[in-house]
Amino acid sequence: MKKLLSGVKPTGIPTLGNYLGAMKQFAQLQSEMPDCEFLFFVADEHALTTPQNPKELKQNIKNVAALYLACGLKEENLTLFIQSEVPSHIQLSGIFESISYIGELERMTQYKEKKKKQIDGVSSALFTYPVLMAADILLYDVDYVPVGEDQKQHLELCKIIANRFNNRFGETFTIPQGITPKIGARIMDLQEPTKKMDKSSIDSKGCIYLLEPVSSAKKKIKSAVTDSESIVKYDKTNKPGISNLMSIYSSITNFSYKKIEKLYQGKGYGDFKSDLAELVGNELKEIQTKYQEIISSEQLNIILNKGRERANFLGNKKIAKVYKKVGLGR
Ligand code: AMP
Ligand code: TRP
Repeated sequence: MKKLLSGVKPTGIPTLGNYLGAMKQFAQLQSEMPDCEFLFFVADEHALTTPQNPKELKQNIKNVAALYLACGLKEENLTLFIQSEVPSHIQLSGIFESISYIGELERMTQYKEKKKKQIDGVSSALFTYPVLMAADILLYDVDYVPVGEDQKQHLELCKIIANRFNNRFGETFTIPQGITPKIGARIMDLQEPTKKMDKSSIDSKGCIYLLEPVSSAKKKIKSAVTDSESIVKYDKTNKPGISNLMSIYSSITNFSYKKIEKLYQGKGYGDFKSDLAELVGNELKEIQTKYQEIISSEQLNIILNKGRERANFLGNKKIAKVYKKVGLGR
């Protein structure tokens, strides 16, 4: 059976970007690939690479787990778990630190960007973040890893680490293949459309959170930055604002950019934004209704317990193999 894996950091409430670039795609892939095992996890150890409030972190972990299910994942062939409940992630990451190089980690764009924002110093965990991510993936010998565009570089490094280990210690890890959605892979901030929509950004006007009131999300769409031309046309370089809104529209409806341009020919941004606000509002309403059912049920714990057991079973087996290969222990 093929395997697919992905993770989301519980560093805040997931955004429309997380949904369109990741969670919604996961649910679609699950229905398209009935013969594949789907491993999804809450990357709580990754969250710790930047300072977190412990109480909020705990709540966010539960929220992300519930949102995976609220975004449409089904229980069959699903292993949903929390990273910190499977110690082999950290164990494998420890081994990988010995075969990854400072130079290659210094080149990571996400590190360079996040480093600038850390006021209280840059943790070494932020630096080694991609090593832990490689461990998350390689631990389970997965075939596919769906991620947004921002994670492609980390995935490339993961493949380098896998090949390096295999060459040095003998065939051990499956080389994974990334899956990036064509549309929705990079949803930008509504106020600063050249920056990605990020749940950890400070100004929340440009960011739609999956659990925020529908009315407030609609308002954010209506006040999104566009341009003075008032022509609904996809042009990422010259019209980043409207192009971003069109990519949101397109990811929700599956309409092509051409089709959207035709639909709004001769109409201004007002009509387009109004319709988009409705679309986003309806999507959020559906997610929030499911979320409410899940978060207050015992079902979530049952699924997470099952996921923990399966992930530990697979992870421990792999770690034993890896320790043997590198010569650790007795
Ligand atoms: P993170 O929020 O960094 O934990 O990301 C979780 C998943 O959502 C990853 O697969 C990201 O690539 C994806 N993602 C995050 N932000 C966006 C965005 N603005 N647009 C599209 N995908 C995103
Ligand atoms: N680094 C990813 C992000 O910030 C989250 C993540 C952690 C992940 N481990 C992963 C994604 C493994 C895919 C596979 O978005």
